[in-house]
Amino acid sequence: MSPYAHITGWGMAVPEKILTNEDLSKKVETNDAWIQSMTGIRERRIASSEQTTASLATDAAIKALEVARLSPSELDLVIVATSSPEYIFPATACLVQDRLGASKAGAFDLLAACSGFIFALNVATQAIRSGSLKNVLVIGAETLSRMVDWTDRNTCVLFGDGAGAFVLQAGEERSGVISSIMRSDGSGGDLLCVPAGGSFAPASLETVATGKHYIKMNGREVFRFATRVMAQATEETVSAAGLKLEDIQLFIPHQANRRIIEASLRSLNVPMDRCVVNIDRYGNTSTASIPIATCEAVRDGRLKAGDKLVLVGFGAGLTWGAALAIWSGAPQPGARPAISLPLRLRAYARLRSLVRRILRRIDAIIWGRHNPYI
Ligand code: ACO
Repeated sequence: MSPYAHITGWGMAVPEKILTNEDLSKKVETNDAWIQSMTGIRERRIASSEQTTASLATDAAIKALEVARLSPSELDLVIVATSSPEYIFPATACLVQDRLGASKAGAFDLLAACSGFIFALNVATQAIRSGSLKNVLVIGAETLSRMVDWTDRNTCVLFGDGAGAFVLQAGEERSGVISSIMRSDGSGGDLLCVPAGGSFAPASLETVATGKHYIKMNGREVFRFATRVMAQATEETVSAAGLKLEDIQLFIPHQANRRIIEASLRSLNVPMDRCVVNIDRYGNTSTASIPIATCEAVRDGRLKAGDKLVLVGFGAGLTWGAALAIWSGAPQPGARPAISLPLRLRAYARLRSLVRRILRRIDAIIWGRHNPYI
């Protein structure tokens, strides 16, 4: 029998700096009443100059590994879902792999905008279910504040920074991710995009001067699309698991707009008290929003081992998807020894990375290779 993909660890990391609606109203022509009534957002977190997508991802990952009591060296794969990667390449996942010292893990980024975490969860689950991998770290991490035009009130009020991570592990019991769906419609790609910086419009003085590296969005059209697909995706994934909406204890939707969440639940006939909403405190953290909301649901005692939950999201692409999971919970105390990663791990991973860099340089010197970039 195929192993199941249990969710055995979870963690989140958000910047300390809070940007309130009041603060924003001093930058652009907006106000707290408009933002709250149109989106449900009160404040969002903004990364400091030292924080990046990789640093937030690493912080969330360490917490998830501690909950799972899993050493980074036991990981087979690290996936970082992000639309605001550290670089075009190398992948942010490789930076995280190095900082964790996940010495035998493959690592890659996945770009499906705000649906990225659901897509990554699906890919990780299939890898575990096929039997090829045992331990996978799935992270959603963003610093979209770096890609927002802070003079554009249509978009700057919406986004925030943060990261969330799950550890998935192979297990025999029917638990963890049971069903998931992924969908895309590229014909709507222009509704939400960053027009320049890629192959189509490489960075140039002109692209910078005309603000083409910022997020552009047709909010109305995205809103219409989102309310339609959120309900559809939820129904599809619940029925793929052979269940009914009444069987689900908790719905954890992508936190893009409170009105989108309310409209989707209304059309499913599901009351709001079965749904996690934390958009008021974080805004739209894109692919990080679902794992962050999940971490808070566990912390608040709203999610217990055995509960059935639906994670559902949508985003640029256009993309959308959902996953149904039976919450596995953390490993039983005593099943594995507790580990305290931050200090030990950071020191070990830094040392490991430094040694590897030095060896690479010595090798280059011995063989007379010159690398102008190091
Ligand atoms: N403050 C005050 N007024 C504003 C603001 C603002 N921040 N932004 C727009 N307005 C004004 C507009 O100028 C317009 O004024 P007008 O009627 O005088 O012309 C009025 O408010 C209505 O503007 P719309 O843009 O038509 O407002 P809408 O009802 O569409 O709400 C919103 C805007 C909240 C952005 C909504 O469209 C939305 O949430 N869309 C979905 C966005 C989304 O989810 N994006 C993330 C996708 S996930 C990803 O992949 C990144």
